[in-house]
Amino acid sequence: MKEKTFCLIKPDAFERNIVGKILDIIEAHGFQFVAMRFLHLSETEAEQFYIIHKDKDFYHGLCKYMSEGPVLCMVLEKENAIADLRKLMGVTDPDKAEKGTIRNEFGIDIRHNSIHGSDSPESVKREITFFFKGVI
Ligand code: RTP
Ligand code: MG
Repeated sequence: MKEKTFCLIKPDAFERNIVGKILDIIEAHGFQFVAMRFLHLSETEAEQFYIIHKDKDFYHGLCKYMSEGPVLCMVLEKENAIADLRKLMGVTDPDKAEKGTIRNEFGIDIRHNSIHGSDSPESVKREITFFFKGVI
């Protein structure tokens, strides 16, 4: 059965003109694009999106970075989309991400890691509502 997930291309990918390359990889792995929004988040919006991390020491730096350039928000669909996107992204730190993953290939460091993907069905629901409520 097909499953939806939420994905976001982060500002560091826009900065280096590699957004198209990342979208190519996502498509080549069988994900279909269901919805897309190109946005420039305010720091307040980034803080709301990553509210789960509000007590972490990286929270302020993360939210500042996420509002420093554009982001591309997407709803993707395929079988097993949530787990498969996380696998394709690789772990948070590009240096520790497996070879062939998007973060290993394109990420700069643990903050500037090029892509976000929902980690659970609950996150998918929250994140799609956050960015697409009233749009899809
Ligand atoms: P994401 O939510 O963006 O898909 O990333 P994730 O699940 O792999 O990692 P998470 O722990 O949820 O962290 C969210 C984002 O915060 C930045 N981060 N910085 N130690 C640090 O400086 C640090 N740790 C995490 C990254 O941009 C990470 O993707
Ligand atoms: Mg996360």
